[in-house]
Amino acid sequence: MKIVHSIDEVRAEIRKSKIAGKRIGLVPTMGYLHKGHISLVSIAKENSDFIVMSIFVNKLQFNDINDFNKYPKDIEQDIIAADSGGVDLLFIPDDSEMYQNNLTTVNVGILTGNLCGAHRPGHFEGVFTVVSKLFNIVQPDVAVFGQKDIQQAVTIEKMVYDLNFPIHIIIAPIVRESSGLAMSSRNKHLSEKHRSDALVLNKSLNECKKMIDSGYVDVKDITNTMQSIIESGSPDKIDYISIVGYSDLSHINTIEEKSIVAVAAFWGSTRLIDNMIIDKDDSGFLCIY
Ligand code: PAF
Repeated sequence: MKIVHSIDEVRAEIRKSKIAGKRIGLVPTMGYLHKGHISLVSIAKENSDFIVMSIFVNKLQFNDINDFNKYPKDIEQDIIAADSGGVDLLFIPDDSEMYQNNLTTVNVGILTGNLCGAHRPGHFEGVFTVVSKLFNIVQPDVAVFGQKDIQQAVTIEKMVYDLNFPIHIIIAPIVRESSGLAMSSRNKHLSEKHRSDALVLNKSLNECKKMIDSGYVDVKDITNTMQSIIESGSPDKIDYISIVGYSDLSHINTIEEKSIVAVAAFWGSTRLIDNMIIDKDDSGFLCIY
């Protein structure tokens, strides 16, 4: 694995790979890698030949400076994990490399009005700006994003379509700890008690699936039940328990088509998110989480 820090170095490596006929796969990250990130690399490897991972803690997407300052970092460990996960090129730019007098930002309007977008002003503009920059720097054929950040992933699919990026976006399944907790770099900040209390997020999705399997489609019925389950884990704050349509991420009253059930809550100052995609085929609803 080669490690580079500048955009010019990335471009030189990509040029060589493209001349050799390789398909480029990109896995953008903010580091503090865990099994979830490595699963994105494995999926990128199944769909391309030369894997670029970026590690950049993008200040522009943090609406809370304390959250940025305490974002976990362990670059030595990340290098080992990326290398053994099969990354070919690891791009670790610093702030001045990524944002030299940056005046342009990317906004995907209406898709970011609900869910995390409603609670983290400016967050998604920061995400889509850096992701667009990474797309232009790396020019991948394929880019992989995790389902855990579902609003991010769905909106990137739309951004790629709207801005004509010739990139195939893959949304990779959520990787969970054996307890059911969705893997996240932020889990590091949880106390043992909070880590166990936070399992209610996953439990609420399990219950939601059971309700859907037994024919419930009324969003209020389902989210009320999920709320009681999440409250039983004494979160410090619930940001949202929402069911939205997959195509436009707007709130729905009844589950009729492809939808997303998403939750966000705080334990201490750690904000955790989790979600489930409800897909539909001829045999009925299929819950993916
Ligand atoms: O999902 C993340 O880790 C970040 O939002 C991303 C896509 C790397 C952009 O900074």
